[in-house]
Amino acid sequence: MAFPPSFLSELKSRCDIETIISTYVRLKRAGANSVGNCPFHSEKTPSFTVFRNTQNFYCFGCGAGGDVITFVMRMENLDYLSAVEKLCNMAGMAMPENTYAGTAKKVDRKRIFELNKKAARYFYDALLKPENAHALKYITDRGLTPRTIKHFGIGYADTSFDSLSGYLKSQGYSDEELKEAFLCGINKYNKPFDMFRGRIMFPIIDVSGEVVAFGGRIIGDGMPKYLNSSDTPVFNKRRNLYALNYAKATTDSSLILCEGYMDVVALHQAGFYNAVATLGTAITPEQARVMARYANKIYICYDSDAAGRKATDKAIALLSEAGLSVKVITVKNAKDPDEYIKKFGKASFSSLINGSEGRIEFKFRTLMGNYNLDVPEEKLDFVNKSCEMLCDVYSPVELDVFLMKLSELTGVDITILRNEVNKRRKKREKDENRKEIEQQIQKSMGYGDKINPDRQKFTACASIEENIIGILMLRSDFIKDEEIQKNLNADMFMCEFNRQVFQRLSQIAAESDSNEIDIGQLGQYFNPEQMGAIMRMQVNRSGYSNNSPEVLNELIQRLADQNLKNNATETDLMDYLQKLKEKKK
Ligand code: CTP
Ligand code: MN
Repeated sequence: MAFPPSFLSELKSRCDIETIISTYVRLKRAGANSVGNCPFHSEKTPSFTVFRNTQNFYCFGCGAGGDVITFVMRMENLDYLSAVEKLCNMAGMAMPENTYAGTAKKVDRKRIFELNKKAARYFYDALLKPENAHALKYITDRGLTPRTIKHFGIGYADTSFDSLSGYLKSQGYSDEELKEAFLCGINKYNKPFDMFRGRIMFPIIDVSGEVVAFGGRIIGDGMPKYLNSSDTPVFNKRRNLYALNYAKATTDSSLILCEGYMDVVALHQAGFYNAVATLGTAITPEQARVMARYANKIYICYDSDAAGRKATDKAIALLSEAGLSVKVITVKNAKDPDEYIKKFGKASFSSLINGSEGRIEFKFRTLMGNYNLDVPEEKLDFVNKSCEMLCDVYSPVELDVFLMKLSELTGVDITILRNEVNKRRKKREKDENRKEIEQQIQKSMGYGDKINPDRQKFTACASIEENIIGILMLRSDFIKDEEIQKNLNADMFMCEFNRQVFQRLSQIAAESDSNEIDIGQLGQYFNPEQMGAIMRMQVNRSGYSNNSPEVLNELIQRLADQNLKNNATETDLMDYLQKLKEKKK
């Protein structure tokens, strides 16, 4: 099913990798490359690198890597075909014909988007029908204006088991598609039934403006209070945020993070257009990184109960890890921001924003609330926990301010407190270093290498093979070199993965009429994780000044020697087993 190389190179010349990645990651130019914080793991200092010359990317932190197609696959959670299709749309190119011949085309994402949009429209229209007046009343009683309802496309799923499915089937969608989109389940008679019934419906719209999922709230009391779409081919709840499609357009670079759909809707109605919410789960690292694409500061505004405070702690940790500056808004005399706005108005909420606490201030205050400082044991515990927490404060001025406050509160001398923090910090660093060294050792011995599990058995070969492949990727003209073809063949590779990479490289080189080969072509045969490992081989090798045919030949010779050694041990073992057998006889 491979794409013609000419098509891929045309696509890639129109989809400049730096331009595409810039829409997801804030990149800074650094010489011939561009760098930024990796969108695939959380980090505060950039190790994600875009190589403009070769149109590839690689993260030195987590090992993600590949070309623009691999990037879109990972970022949008797409298979290879869908990623190519997406880039084609962006570049205004047509997909080559016969692409799908012989491949089972997975679900058609475009049709699921359409289906969702039709469903959203259906729910919205239903909310305005006279027979559903009670639903409209519920939501207007909660303070939403017709304009807000329209803006968010809020709707109503009636109590019938087949009204939505009947409508969508009349529009030409199959039972299978309805199920894929999580709009229907399939009953024991193999008939679809509506998943959302008797609920106020909140469509979830992604940053490209597509309806990707729904959250449905029961009217009044009932269980479950909210029903949310599970993950579907177009929806991943770990990566999306409610109302981000609107919030991303606000000019100030901050977001207000809430717990609930209703909080967000109420805040937008009051003019706080930068409010977003997670989707029925605690915040994930992916969501933190998505927020970092659009903002540098996050105001956490969770419910005022104990659960909300606990969730705030988790959000502080994940958002800080993603390099975001964090503020905490605490609503008083109301259970959540929705209720607060209704009770006290928007001016009051504005002053809450202005009076928001820094992350350490918040942690310090909530920690203090747990202790009675008149009891010596509790005081000691408080001092210990505070010092542990202050290990995270790296600004010396900020640290001093908190130490002073802690000293005032507890009567413990500030020098003692400072020493305590330093002591803990040293211990922490030591532990981390030890852990890192252990991991390095494990890694060099090949433990836990999922991409190349043979590394454990053939450590020396693995490294030689990777160096060979690295050079061949940098100098693909060597692949067709007669001398090299004579000395190097696929059977010499002891690691199955490396052998496959070598075979595909040779195949691509053989099919291409130029000497340049595009590693993006490998993306058709290897998944994004594997592509990262392949990119690493190239990136490692590009750090060497000498990648000449002589060096390559020397590596090939070393691989041949290793082959002999491995064969020798194998033959010895066979001999031994044979002798054992004979002895038994
Ligand atoms: N949630 C959920 N499933 C539940 C309860 C809550 O998915 N059974 C999610 C929803 O995304 C909800 C959020 O958690 O918006 C916050 O829950 P909660 O505070 O209970 O709801 P509110 O958004 O405040 O909704 P309401 O004001 O209508 O009670
Ligand atoms: Mn609420």
